[in-house]
Amino acid sequence: MKKYFVIGNPIDHSLSPKLHNYWLKENKIDAIYHKKKINQKDLQTTILEIKEKKTGGINVTVPFKKSVIPYLDKLSPEAEQTQSVNTIILNDNILVGHNTDISGFTKAIKDLSFNIEGKKIFILGAGGVVPSIIFALNKMNVSEIIISNRTRQKADDLKSQFKIINVIDWGNIPKFDMIINATSLGLNNEALNLNFSEVGDNKLFYDVIYNPSETSFLKEGKKLGNQSENGKLMFIYQALEAFKIWHGIEPEINTDILKLLEND
Ligand code: ATR
Repeated sequence: MKKYFVIGNPIDHSLSPKLHNYWLKENKIDAIYHKKKINQKDLQTTILEIKEKKTGGINVTVPFKKSVIPYLDKLSPEAEQTQSVNTIILNDNILVGHNTDISGFTKAIKDLSFNIEGKKIFILGAGGVVPSIIFALNKMNVSEIIISNRTRQKADDLKSQFKIINVIDWGNIPKFDMIINATSLGLNNEALNLNFSEVGDNKLFYDVIYNPSETSFLKEGKKLGNQSENGKLMFIYQALEAFKIWHGIEPEINTDILKLLEND
């Protein structure tokens, strides 16, 4: 039986095994998907197990999306441009790194009744998933991307990677059409401590977090009369793309799948 893994640290929270194992069963594929907590020093050995065919493929999450790159032979253009890999496969004995967070985010946004073209986007945070979000937003022809991160240097580093973004100090809230919480604040029900009272209504509040399903950031946006959306579909779509890459099958998204990710 082929084994697949999601690697990260921490990894306990990952719901990827639920999703992939459901789809593996549905599609009668003789394989199993586990989560594996690893340290940086184990990274190379873990990746090489794909080459040795002990592992069928690997999903990568925080904090290894960039640090896996030196151990791969080739990157997809999206992974190359974001310097972020979340899916690894062996193709003709070549280890290839893909980035499915980009299409995950793009598809999730396209499912919403919110036309993003020409819109002004404000991103909170500068962590692992932000390069993929910037890349996707840029492809969707937004008019402006503004980033703010508690540690300003990390946002400035992103600016050297993506010249198109503007960086502002943490605590400032510019005018925007869509705001994205890409920080980890909210995972444990913490509030962001930012003042949204001047924001107004009819904007889109988007949280990358999907568990809890409604963070205080989303609650606050909604209270002010804004549309709100969590990161559940983004998560499902990135997994769907990874599944397609590994198994050549587009799995189904149904109500069972949506339920699978609740109450965890
Ligand atoms: P990583 O930084 O390892 O990629 P991540 O979960 O992808 O991890 O990113 C965490 C994000 O949440 C970062 O933008 C982080 O800000 P810092 O760069 O300043 O650490 C942000 N974050 C975490 N706790 C926060 C807090 N209490 N206030 C504001 N931002 C916070």
